[in-house]
Amino acid sequence: MSKDFTHSVVILIITTVVVASFSLAVWVVPNILRTDDIAKGSLAKPLTAIELAGRDIYISEGCHVCHTQMVRPLEPETKRNGRANKESDDIYEFPNLWGSKRTGPDLTNLGRKYSDQWHVLHLIDPRQVIPTSIMPAYPWLFEQTLSGDAIGDKMETLRTLGVPYTDQEISDARLQVRGKTKGEALIHYLQSLGQDTAQEVAP
Ligand code: HEC
Repeated sequence: MSKDFTHSVVILIITTVVVASFSLAVWVVPNILRTDDIAKGSLAKPLTAIELAGRDIYISEGCHVCHTQMVRPLEPETKRNGRANKESDDIYEFPNLWGSKRTGPDLTNLGRKYSDQWHVLHLIDPRQVIPTSIMPAYPWLFEQTLSGDAIGDKMETLRTLGVPYTDQEISDARLQVRGKTKGEALIHYLQSLGQDTAQEVAP
């Protein structure tokens, strides 16, 4: 039997290089070539200090493992999750939280869908508001408070990446966050989702 291509190391190496180069061209190069043009016409606003602190809770509790923030421009998706998002919506997101698994609903357009009180009940015990929910409960979020010590530094770091925070916003940040519970900060973040860009017409 003649050797097929799976037996050739040379072909394996060539194929690997071709596939890796394709991924590089599609995922990495566009980001390097990215210009400020993307920001033009975008209504995206940087998160406030408290919303940013809430986003950190969202990440540390792993909410993004079950929830996406990426509505694709396909009719079944937009009917279910609202306006599709564009690259220009996420210019101030570092890292992005698009996610890849939907155990729960997409949260791109969640802001103001529910009251703050609904979120408190839902986070303390999801079964109180959705009896069949399989979402975990996060009661400690309302018992633990934030010091706000690192938030100013975080905003300065984000500024080096192009998020236009002012000196005033950075110096006020600690007091905005200090003493708030983790849950309060998280709800500020959840209520902000999709609000800044909501007025933009879908592409
Ligand atoms: C194990 C998977 C899982 C994790 C982790 C998870 N969720 Fe959920 N989430 C769900 C499921 C399933 C639902 C749908 C049932 C419900 O509403 O409780 C849901 C629903 C929601 C909703 C209501 C969405 C809507 O449009 O009705 C919000 C808000 C939410 N989750 C926020 C969070 C936040 C914030 C965290 C992190 C603290 C989190 N979830 C972590 C699975 C998860």
